[in-house]
Amino acid sequence: MTLCFIHQNHMMRVLAIAALHLLQLQSITPVLLADTNLPLPGCISKCGEVRVPFPFGVGAGCYREGFKLTCNETYNPPKLFLELDNTRAEVLDISLHHGKLYVDNGIVKLTGSNRYNMTWGIPLDESIFTVSPFWNNFVIMGCGFEFLVSLPHVNDTVVRCTSSCLRGRPAVATDGLCSGVGCCEASMPGAGNMYSIELASYTARNDLAMRGQPFNATLVMVENEWWDTDNHSMLLQKAVSDGLVTSWGISSSAGPVQTMAVVKWNFSNSSCADAQSSSDFGCRSSNSYCHDHWTGKSSGYICRCSNGYEGNPYIPNGCQDIDECTDPDKYQCFGHCINTDGSYNCICPRGTSGNPQKQHGCIKAAEKFSGTLLMNFGPFNHLPAVAPRFQTRKQRS
Ligand SMILES: *[C@@H]1O[C@H](CO)[C@@H](O)[C@H](O)[C@H]1NC(C)=O
Ligand SMILES: *[C@@H]1O[C@H](CO)[C@@H](O)[C@H](O)[C@H]1NC(C)=O
Ligand SMILES: *[C@@H]1O[C@H](CO)[C@@H](O)[C@H](O)[C@H]1NC(C)=O
Ligand SMILES: *[C@@H]1O[C@H](CO)[C@@H](O)[C@H](O)[C@H]1NC(C)=O
Ligand SMILES: *[C@@H]1O[C@H](CO)[C@@H](O)[C@H](O)[C@H]1NC(C)=O
Ligand SMILES: *[C@@H]1O[C@H](CO)[C@@H](O)[C@H](O)[C@H]1NC(C)=O
Ligand SMILES: *[C@@H]1O[C@H](CO)[C@@H](O)[C@H](O)[C@H]1NC(C)=O
Repeated sequence: MTLCFIHQNHMMRVLAIAALHLLQLQSITPVLLADTNLPLPGCISKCGEVRVPFPFGVGAGCYREGFKLTCNETYNPPKLFLELDNTRAEVLDISLHHGKLYVDNGIVKLTGSNRYNMTWGIPLDESIFTVSPFWNNFVIMGCGFEFLVSLPHVNDTVVRCTSSCLRGRPAVATDGLCSGVGCCEASMPGAGNMYSIELASYTARNDLAMRGQPFNATLVMVENEWWDTDNHSMLLQKAVSDGLVTSWGISSSAGPVQTMAVVKWNFSNSSCADAQSSSDFGCRSSNSYCHDHWTGKSSGYICRCSNGYEGNPYIPNGCQDIDECTDPDKYQCFGHCINTDGSYNCICPRGTSGNPQKQHGCIKAAEKFSGTLLMNFGPFNHLPAVAPRFQTRKQRS
């Protein structure tokens, strides 16, 4: 049996697109957009393309205990890692707002045996991080086996899936589907970081494989949404099927293949109510609030910037006003936009009235007059007698 952990060198395209978008915005507006994912002063804000916001950090004095990351600059571009016992996981993105960490935990390749037993997962500090059972699945490529997964020390929940070898079908599915022929999918048995995994030779009816026969399997832990988008499932299956996933890594000809799983994190494992009175309370910025992060029976909290602000709630003045007027697509305004602290006003230009949030919603006073006259002839022409002034509260997820 061979077991290897492979990391790919492809950064998230999403990030590149986001960065491009930012550049475009900056070039059309004179307002310099604030770096919305602030690190502590004197600490690096990015590693390669990945932003590193506090409480995460690289280097002494830059992170909260438990949130230490390393940036390995021998890669081009540099890569960000969670350093773990005997292993490491690449960090692809960090979301402060949702308390999520997107990681590439590598690929496990199993060859040459008819039974495999192992413990696999992301050996993270359980008081802070949880591999989310809601957002992730195990995907096992190959055929002729049964896969069983459970949380160590928990007897009652075992999740299983089987993958058959059928005539005319490849040993590793390559159609992007994972329905039990050449590939099977299993949900997470519960919230945890490490899992007890067992794979055993298995044959179903019409199966080409024989019981007890050695089989090959390739195991990944993936975010469901990631697996289902941009042909990620097909690309990964093809790379495995073509033998591009080897003990030495993934051949560059495999294209943009990587894996991505989502890990939820807490700033602290206490509740907002308990944390608020403590000296260790994390929500340090003005215009921020505390959000309880429930997972089943236990809680923890994260901090968020209030509506109308964005940035880093964990550092003083980290939450900064959003200038909505620079983003009319998101904060609709076809009239005159005026940014205010935490909000914005959208009004019709002088001499017009109507609805400034509708295209052509502001109407010249003279037109309005003739419109009112027309009302005598057409019953469908309604115009407000007094033009309303719109004060808009922001809508942020
Ligand atoms: C950076 O990555 C290279 C290649 O994997 C490795 O040999 C080296 O030890 C890493 N450096 C640090 C500081 O972790
Ligand atoms: C794998 O683990 C299971 C349960 O812990 C055990 O019954 C089985 O014998 C183990 N198999 C091997 C090959 O170690
Ligand atoms: C937050 O911390 C608690 C206590 O350690 C833990 O049980 C819970 O799962 C954590 N929540 C998340 C979202 O990680
Ligand atoms: C799990 O099962 C073993 C053997 O059946 C038993 O000794 C142990 O107490 C069980 N553990 C739990 C947490 O139920
Ligand atoms: C497993 O993979 C090896 C190469 O790594 C190959 O030689 C062998 O035929 C494969 N076994 C099965 C059952 O597909
Ligand atoms: C996904 O794969 C199909 C078939 O290979 C291809 O036609 C399609 O363009 C791909 N879509 C993306 C987003 O790459
Ligand atoms: C919270 O985490 C600390 C260590 O970080 C631990 O001592 C404590 O028991 C945890 N509390 C809960 C409720 O999990």
